[in-house]
Amino acid sequence: MKFFIDTANLAQIKEANELGILDGVTTNPSLMAKEGIKGHDAVINHYKTICEMVNGDISAEVISTEFKAIVEEGKKLAAIHPNIVVKVPMIKDGVKAIKWFTDNGIRTNCTLCFSAGQAILAAKAGAAYISPFIGRIDDSGWDGVVLIEQISRIYKLQGFKTKVLAASIRNALHIVKCAEAGADVCTCPLESILGLLKHPLTDIGLAKFLEDAKKTA
Ligand code: E4P
Repeated sequence: MKFFIDTANLAQIKEANELGILDGVTTNPSLMAKEGIKGHDAVINHYKTICEMVNGDISAEVISTEFKAIVEEGKKLAAIHPNIVVKVPMIKDGVKAIKWFTDNGIRTNCTLCFSAGQAILAAKAGAAYISPFIGRIDDSGWDGVVLIEQISRIYKLQGFKTKVLAASIRNALHIVKCAEAGADVCTCPLESILGLLKHPLTDIGLAKFLEDAKKTA
C-alpha cells in the first residue's frame, strides 16, 4: 500500500518525506485555504513547490463544476508538472471530464466518493484513482472501511485498473484497516502516519535496553 500525505502544509510534507515512506500528496481547496494560499498564481506556485519536494503523484483539485470549465482548469493543473493528478469531483460533468482526461493522457483522482456505484462510474471513465472518504462515512454513522473492502473486491473481480485511494483518514487504526481491506493507497494526515509508530511496549522496551546498555559500557 502506498502512503500519501493529505495536506498542503509544506512543513508537514517535508517531515513525512524525510521519514522516507512518502509516495505522494493529496490536497483539496479546504486544505489550501487552511494554509492561507490565496489567488490563482499562489495556488499554482504552491503545487509547483510540492512537486519539487516530493517525487510522487500530487493531486491538485479543480474548483469548476461544468464539463468545459473542468477540462480547461484540469489542463492548466496538469501542465504544472508531470506528477500532477487532476482531482475531479464525483458529479455528472466530473465523470464526463474524467473520460475526456483519460482519452487525452491526463491522469485523474475522482474525489468525494461515498458509494460503490460512484466508484464503478469513476473506473469506467478511466480514473487513475478513486477517493472514498472513509472518515466522513464513519462520521455519518456508517462504516467507511467496509466501502474500501467492497470497492477493492469489485475492481479486482471486474479487472478495473483504477487504484483505491482511501481518503479522509482520521487515525492510525484507519490506516491499518484500509491496508487489510485492500486499499492501494492511503492518504493520511501527518498525525495518523506518526500514530503508527506508537506502542507503549516499544517505549518500555527501549528504556530497558538503554538502561542495560549502561552496564555494558
Ligand atoms: C483527500 O483527498 C480528501 O481531500 C481528504 O482526505 C478529506 O478529508 P477530511 O474528511 O478529513 O476533510
